[in-house]
Amino acid sequence: MSQKVTRRQFLNYSLMGVGSFMAAGMILPMGRFALDPLFKESSAGDMIATSVKVDDITEEPVSVDFTYEQKDGWYVSEVTDFAWVYRDGDKIIALSPVCKHLGCTVSWASDANNPDRFFCPCHNGLYEKSGENVPGTPPRGPLDMYEVGESDGFLTIGAIKENELV
Ligand code: FES
Repeated sequence: MSQKVTRRQFLNYSLMGVGSFMAAGMILPMGRFALDPLFKESSAGDMIATSVKVDDITEEPVSVDFTYEQKDGWYVSEVTDFAWVYRDGDKIIALSPVCKHLGCTVSWASDANNPDRFFCPCHNGLYEKSGENVPGTPPRGPLDMYEVGESDGFLTIGAIKENELV
Protein backbone atom coordinates (compact mmCIF):
# COMPACT_ATOMS: atom_id res chain seq x y z
CA MET A 1 0.00 0.00 0.00
CA SER A 2 1.52 3.29 -1.08
CA GLN A 3 1.26 6.45 0.99
CA LYS A 4 0.88 9.58 -1.01
CA VAL A 5 2.42 12.80 0.21
CA THR A 6 0.11 15.71 -0.33
CA ARG A 7 1.34 19.01 -1.71
CA ARG A 8 0.71 20.62 1.72
CA GLN A 9 2.80 17.94 3.49
CA PHE A 10 5.58 18.28 0.94
CA LEU A 11 5.71 22.05 1.48
CA ASN A 12 5.65 21.62 5.28
CA TYR A 13 8.53 19.12 5.20
CA SER A 14 10.51 21.30 2.81
CA LEU A 15 10.05 24.41 4.96
CA MET A 16 10.95 22.50 8.12
CA GLY A 17 14.11 21.18 6.46
CA VAL A 18 15.19 24.59 5.20
CA GLY A 19 14.34 26.19 8.58
CA SER A 20 16.34 23.58 10.48
CA PHE A 21 19.28 24.03 8.14
CA MET A 22 19.23 27.82 8.61
CA ALA A 23 18.87 27.53 12.40
CA ALA A 24 21.82 25.14 12.57
CA GLY A 25 23.84 27.58 10.46
CA MET A 26 23.24 30.28 13.06
CA ILE A 27 23.45 28.24 16.28
CA LEU A 28 26.55 26.15 15.54
CA PRO A 29 28.91 29.13 15.08
CA MET A 30 27.53 30.71 18.27
CA GLY A 31 28.13 27.49 20.18
CA ARG A 32 31.63 27.21 18.77
CA PHE A 33 32.32 30.82 19.77
CA ALA A 34 31.03 30.23 23.31
CA LEU A 35 33.11 27.08 23.76
CA ASP A 36 36.18 28.40 21.94
CA PRO A 37 38.32 28.95 25.06
CA LEU A 38 37.93 25.26 25.92
CA PHE A 39 39.43 24.26 22.56
CA LYS A 40 42.28 26.74 22.68
CA GLU A 41 45.66 25.27 23.24
CA SER A 42 48.44 27.44 24.46
CA SER A 43 51.88 26.80 25.73
CA ALA A 44 51.39 29.45 28.40
CA GLY A 45 51.63 26.76 31.09
CA ASP A 46 55.02 25.54 29.83
CA MET A 47 58.32 27.11 30.73
CA ILE A 48 59.55 29.19 27.82
CA ALA A 49 63.24 29.79 27.22
CA THR A 50 64.55 33.34 26.93
CA SER A 51 67.89 34.63 25.69
CA VAL A 52 68.72 36.21 29.07
CA LYS A 53 71.33 34.63 31.34
CA VAL A 54 70.19 34.46 34.95
CA ASP A 55 73.59 35.69 36.12
CA ASP A 56 73.17 38.85 34.04
CA ILE A 57 69.93 39.87 35.74
CA THR A 58 70.40 42.85 38.04
CA GLU A 59 68.18 44.79 40.42
CA GLU A 60 67.22 47.11 37.58
CA PRO A 61 64.07 45.92 35.77
CA VAL A 62 64.62 45.18 32.08
CA SER A 63 62.14 43.97 29.49
CA VAL A 64 62.65 40.35 28.47
CA ASP A 65 60.91 38.93 25.40
CA PHE A 66 59.57 35.41 25.24
CA THR A 67 57.86 33.70 22.32
CA TYR A 68 55.43 30.82 22.29
CA GLU A 69 53.11 29.03 19.89
CA GLN A 70 49.41 29.64 20.28
CA LYS A 71 46.94 27.23 18.69
CA ASP A 72 43.43 28.43 17.93
CA GLY A 73 41.60 25.53 16.33
CA TRP A 74 43.71 24.69 13.29
CA TYR A 75 45.41 28.09 13.26
CA VAL A 76 48.85 28.22 14.84
CA SER A 77 50.59 31.52 15.46
CA GLU A 78 53.69 32.68 17.22
CA VAL A 79 53.08 35.19 19.98
CA THR A 80 55.80 37.32 21.52
CA ASP A 81 55.21 38.86 24.94
CA PHE A 82 57.56 40.44 27.39
CA ALA A 83 58.00 40.74 31.13
CA TRP A 84 59.77 43.21 33.37
CA VAL A 85 62.50 41.15 34.98
CA TYR A 86 64.79 42.01 37.88
CA ARG A 87 66.61 40.44 40.81
CA ASP A 88 65.43 40.81 44.40
CA GLY A 89 68.08 39.13 46.54
CA ASP A 90 68.08 35.46 45.56
CA LYS A 91 64.78 35.74 43.75
CA ILE A 92 64.14 36.59 40.13
CA ILE A 93 60.96 38.59 39.60
CA ALA A 94 59.11 38.76 36.28
CA LEU A 95 56.19 41.18 36.19
CA SER A 96 53.53 41.48 33.53
CA PRO A 97 53.64 44.81 31.69
CA VAL A 98 49.84 44.88 31.34
CA CYS A 99 48.31 47.72 33.35
CA LYS A 100 45.50 46.64 35.67
CA HIS A 101 43.44 49.72 34.83
CA LEU A 102 42.58 49.33 31.14
CA GLY A 103 45.39 47.16 29.84
CA CYS A 104 47.96 49.60 28.48
CA THR A 105 51.65 48.71 28.67
CA VAL A 106 53.59 49.95 31.66
CA SER A 107 57.26 50.84 31.53
CA TRP A 108 59.97 51.13 34.15
CA ALA A 109 61.18 54.56 35.23
CA SER A 110 59.75 56.36 32.21
CA ASP A 111 58.17 59.13 34.28
CA ALA A 112 60.73 61.73 35.36
CA ASN A 113 58.85 62.37 38.60
CA ASN A 114 58.79 58.67 39.52
CA PRO A 115 62.17 57.27 38.54
CA ASP A 116 61.81 54.11 40.67
CA ARG A 117 58.32 53.09 39.67
CA PHE A 118 56.47 51.53 36.78
CA PHE A 119 54.49 54.10 34.84
CA CYS A 120 51.44 53.69 32.62
CA PRO A 121 51.21 56.59 30.16
CA CYS A 122 47.54 56.08 29.30
CA HIS A 123 46.12 57.57 32.52
CA ASN A 124 49.25 58.23 34.57
CA GLY A 125 49.03 54.96 36.46
CA LEU A 126 51.86 54.15 38.85
CA TYR A 127 53.17 50.93 40.38
CA GLU A 128 55.92 50.30 42.88
CA LYS A 129 58.84 48.09 41.84
CA SER A 130 57.03 45.12 43.44
CA GLY A 131 54.12 45.72 41.07
CA GLU A 132 51.92 47.15 43.81
CA ASN A 133 49.60 49.82 42.47
CA VAL A 134 50.15 53.27 43.96
CA PRO A 135 47.02 54.51 45.77
CA GLY A 136 45.44 57.57 44.18
CA THR A 137 46.33 56.48 40.64
CA PRO A 138 43.85 54.69 38.32
CA PRO A 139 45.03 51.04 38.64
CA ARG A 140 43.03 49.10 41.23
CA GLY A 141 45.33 46.11 41.61
CA PRO A 142 48.99 45.05 41.41
CA LEU A 143 50.70 43.90 38.23
CA ASP A 144 50.52 40.15 37.66
CA MET A 145 53.70 38.14 37.71
CA TYR A 146 55.10 35.13 35.83
CA GLU A 147 56.52 31.87 37.05
CA VAL A 148 60.27 31.91 36.46
CA GLY A 149 62.89 29.20 36.21
CA GLU A 150 66.34 28.47 34.88
CA SER A 151 67.50 26.16 32.13
CA ASP A 152 71.21 25.84 31.30
CA GLY A 153 71.82 29.18 32.93
CA PHE A 154 69.11 30.96 30.98
CA LEU A 155 65.91 32.45 32.37
CA THR A 156 62.69 30.61 31.58
CA ILE A 157 59.25 32.11 31.93
CA GLY A 158 56.07 30.21 32.70
CA ALA A 159 52.45 30.78 33.58
CA ILE A 160 51.10 34.12 34.61
CA LYS A 161 49.72 34.36 38.15
CA GLU A 162 48.63 36.86 40.76
CA ASN A 163 51.30 39.05 42.29
CA GLU A 164 52.70 37.31 45.37
CA LEU A 165 54.89 40.21 46.46
CA VAL A 166 52.16 42.50 47.73
S1 FES B 1 45.42 51.88 31.38
FE1 FES B 1 47.05 52.18 32.74
S2 FES B 1 46.42 53.84 33.94
FE2 FES B 1 44.77 53.53 32.61
